[in-house]
Amino acid sequence: MSLLFEPLSIREVTFRNRLWVSPMCQFSCWNRDGVPGSWHIMNAGSYAAGGAGLVMMESTGVSADGRITVWCPGIWNDDQSDAWSTVIELVHSLGAVAGIQLNHAGRKASGYANGTSMEIADGGWETMGPSANKVDGMRVPRVMEQADIDKVVTDFGTAAARSVESGFDVIELHAAHGYLIHQFLSPLSNERTDDYGGSLENRARFLLDIVREVRRQIPESTPLFIRLSATDWADGGITIEETATVSTWAQALGADLFDISSGGLIRNVFISSTPGYQVEFSNTVKQQGVLTAAVGKITKADQAESILREGKADAIFMGRQLINDPHFPLRAAHELGVEVDYTPGPHKMGHWD
Ligand SMILES: Cc1cc2nc3c(=O)[nH]c(=O)nc-3n(C[C@H](O)[C@H](O)[C@H](O)COP(=O)(O)O)c2cc1C
Repeated sequence: MSLLFEPLSIREVTFRNRLWVSPMCQFSCWNRDGVPGSWHIMNAGSYAAGGAGLVMMESTGVSADGRITVWCPGIWNDDQSDAWSTVIELVHSLGAVAGIQLNHAGRKASGYANGTSMEIADGGWETMGPSANKVDGMRVPRVMEQADIDKVVTDFGTAAARSVESGFDVIELHAAHGYLIHQFLSPLSNERTDDYGGSLENRARFLLDIVREVRRQIPESTPLFIRLSATDWADGGITIEETATVSTWAQALGADLFDISSGGLIRNVFISSTPGYQVEFSNTVKQQGVLTAAVGKITKADQAESILREGKADAIFMGRQLINDPHFPLRAAHELGVEVDYTPGPHKMGHWD
């Protein structure tokens, strides 16, 4: 029996397997309006047709100024919700669960896909962050005041409610890769001296405020995931022990699964990205008694299966391998000797002859 193809249920959502599509920016809202279009339908649909259990949509802005680039999608208005509903309908019709990764990019907003700041004249905007420090190549953010913090917390809640109304089954908060929530979590970017800076409890306050608000806005039945960077790969940054502690705090407030990644806060650091290089981080967090997903250079069926068998994660997110081959999950099932019957079609309706 394969664990990778064993269904998993969280709250009232059942995933047909544990091989999931990692959120990946598409930079394809070509009208700069945050409205997903034909590209997103094709892209998400191909992953669902390829057999993934969960298709997690890319980083999606909870507000216009929270987008990484002007080409990223959003979920702050009806046009965006309606467009997402079309994407979700296709994903559902192909038997996969649809998730959305909600994000505010903070000091990494208003960028180009290559990670430099977009000029205001070209459509960029002034950014904000916990402190007036920047990531290399991008502008210095304005320091957030309490009113800014309150607004972003509210925006996450509204975006989560809107996501569920649009049809999404799973909400993921992007608290990794150097975006706003991570900027609060890490001492390398958070130099605040108020209730949101200093101790781990204070640095985690922004995330936990968001978890509380999002949980308040979404049904009990909806799973809530959080993507965390377990380390900044730099001295003085967030540690795996802190990440594990924050996970338990978030779980107590209703978060269900921790998607354990790393890095992204500062540039030009060495990351030894060998196969499965982040799996041990997932393992450490999982030892706290929470559900986790592992991600990062997991490219083979037996590798993914072993991670689950060794109890180091409850599910696997896969990124680049699925870009290479959106049908990888069906192939993985075959390699592991699992018979799956995911394909919708006339034979299921008794019209085969
Ligand atoms: C093109 C591309 C876009 C990405 N965009 C996002 C994103 O929107 N949100 C996120 O959390 N991670 C993003 N990532 C990181 C992936 O989700 C994943 O964690 C990373 O690629 C490592 O997994 P892999 O080795 O299976 O690709 C992106 C990666 C790629 C290659």
